[in-house]
Parts: sequence; structure tokens; C-alpha cells
Amino acid sequence: MSVHFIGAGPGAPDLLTLRGRDLIARCPVCLYAGSLVPDAVLAHCPEGARIVNTAPMDLDAIMAEIAAAHAAGHDVARLQSGDLSVWSAMGEQLRRLEAMGIPYTITPGVPSFAAAAASLGAELTLPGVAQSVVLTRTPGRASSMPPGETLRAFGATGATLAIHLSIQNLAQVVADITPSYGADCPVAVVWRASWPDERIVRGTLSTIVEAMPQEIERTALILVGSALGSSEFSESRLYAPDYDRRYRPQGAGSRWAGWSGDDG
Ligand SMILES: C[S@@+](CC[C@H](N)C(=O)[O-])C[C@H]1O[C@@H](n2cnc3c(N)ncnc32)[C@H](O)[C@@H]1O
Repeated sequence: MSVHFIGAGPGAPDLLTLRGRDLIARCPVCLYAGSLVPDAVLAHCPEGARIVNTAPMDLDAIMAEIAAAHAAGHDVARLQSGDLSVWSAMGEQLRRLEAMGIPYTITPGVPSFAAAAASLGAELTLPGVAQSVVLTRTPGRASSMPPGETLRAFGATGATLAIHLSIQNLAQVVADITPSYGADCPVAVVWRASWPDERIVRGTLSTIVEAMPQEIERTALILVGSALGSSEFSESRLYAPDYDRRYRPQGAGSRWAGWSGDDG
């Protein structure tokens, strides 16, 4: 018996991985994290599966479900939104499973920042503009931030910021990063990226708060940075016609001349 942690993706049911789908289809128990996992993903559960929404449960109750499945010899599909490597509370579940001697696997999912960037038609790392993406959040009722992880500190880098769990703090986000990014810096808010009712609001740090409709709350990502608005970026050297590389050696003097290309 194993617990299979599965990143269920950002919302669109066809953004689930094939591995995730196949694991769901063979687990007699499915524990899923509330409204962010669509019904169409749960439809992959086998006939008669025990399907439990863990949103109203505490950690002890979730672990009790898992322990009961373990005692019955039933594999568990543990579905959580997006990818499991960020804000999934997977770490504490893994620690409990290890203490209980219950094996587990982890199947990654499409994270919401990637789905939001796709909806915007944007690459978040443009040559000469931004080469880093900071996945972060602001403090919430249940979570404080470690002292060094402030938007002001991240803003000092000029990286593209993907700010999660923070739409309710939008005005404070804008106040914190405007000194480093400037009032004209592009911002986009993507609400429910990849869901049928997805919405996108674009603006700048000076306009975004006014532009935000009241009804946009909770499942939204705030993306900030010059990469979102720039058409002024260099093309990457990798695809430049004269760039000497292993797969496209440039003439007899190439450092790759004579390479057979068979080393994988
Ligand atoms: C608890 S975190 C889960 C993050 C998730 N593990 C991931 O990989 O994106 C929930 C936050 O992720 C963001 N989020 C999750 N799904 C989203 C979506 N479909 N569209 C926009 N933001 C989303 C929002 O900022 C939301 O407040």
C-alpha cells in the first residue's frame, strides 16, 4: 500500500499528467483538496472508490483516513492543486507518513504560475530583461513570512514576481514593490487560470488596484515585472545563426567539429 501524492494541475482537467491520471484510476481511495480540484479529474477514480474532500478536515483527520486505507491495504491517491512543491502542505504529511512507516510517491503537476503565464501568452524570463522568477506570497492569517522574505527584498532584484495567495493584499503588494519596479511596471492578475471562467486583468503598478473588479478574490495570481510588457528584448544567443553549439557546429574550426552527436 502506498500514498500517491499527485499534483492535479491548475484547474483544466486535461492539464493533469498521464501518470497522475493512471494512478488515480487504480487507487480505491482518493483524498482531494477541495474546490481547486475539478470534478473531471475525480472522474478518473475507479467505480466505487472512496472519494473524500479534505478541505474541511484537519491534519489528524486526514492522517486517520490514510491510516484506515493502510490498514485495509488500499492505495490512496492524494490530489492537491497545481504542483506539490509549493504551498501544498505536503511536507507535513510526508513527515507523518515516514513516522507511520507508510510508503509514498510524488507525481508533479502543472503549477498555477505556469498556467497563468500561458494564459497571458508570456515568457517570464526574457533575455536582458529578467532571468529569474520569484515564486512568493505575502503573509496570511495562517502563515507568517520568514523575516528576510519580503517583497521589498525580492523587488530589489528586478526579477519577475509570481505572487500567490495575496490578491486580498493587492494594495500592500503594490505599495511594497513600486519603489523598486516603478509605477509604470506591468502587472497582470490571472484569476482561475485555465478554468472555463478564467479572467485576466492587466495594468501597471499605478493602475492595477483601481482596475481590479471586486469579485476577483482568492484563486488569483499576481505577476509583476518588466518581462510582462516588454517587446524590447534581445533574441537568445542559443538560436543565433552564428552561435557555435554542439547541435549546430559552425564550420571546421568549431569546438564541436567531429562530435558524433551520439552522447545523448
Ligand atoms: C495553496 S496555493 C497552491 C499553489 C499550487 N500548489 C501551485 O502549484 O500553484 C493557492 C494559490 O495558488 C494560486 N493559484 C492556484 N491555482 C490557481 C489558478 N488556477 N489560477 C490562478 N492562481 C492560482 C493562487 O495564488 C492561490 O491563492
